[in-house]
Amino acid sequence: MEHKIRLTINGNKVEKWVKSQTSLLDFLRTEMELTGVKEGCGVGECGACTVIVNGMTVRSCLMLAVEADGTEITTIEGIAKNGELSNVQKSFVEKGAIQCGFCTPGFVVAGENLLDRKPAPSKEDIVEAFSGHLCRCTGYAQIIEAMDHAAQNR
Ligand code: FES
Ligand code: FES
Repeated sequence: MEHKIRLTINGNKVEKWVKSQTSLLDFLRTEMELTGVKEGCGVGECGACTVIVNGMTVRSCLMLAVEADGTEITTIEGIAKNGELSNVQKSFVEKGAIQCGFCTPGFVVAGENLLDRKPAPSKEDIVEAFSGHLCRCTGYAQIIEAMDHAAQNR
């Protein structure tokens, strides 16, 4: 069965038909071609698929596209503005917080959301915001350092 959903993605109004069982992750990647949203585990454990829905981080693999009807969504593609990387993105590059980069969209989206909610986060706030995000490459120290740097250079 298909349902019509209307939502706003990265500032653009969207109206689409989706199947009842389609996840928000599949909808964003396949239907909207927003492939910066990554699929890691597919079961809510890695954070790679994180997007912001109505101001809160959400694992898009755990949400149905139909549940996103009427919401406002930001994906990694909506973080840079007018071709300019955000402070968080720049800091990840500067501090070497990226290796394969597969986890990076989820970390950056969660980091942006943290700074929106808490402009001067403590190290504990950063660790907590990233607690559900897995990175197989960096060992986390550079990621936390990058986020700390971004927070101090807003
Ligand atoms: S793909 Fe969604 S949490 Fe891993
Ligand atoms: S940079 Fe490779 S998984 Fe994080």
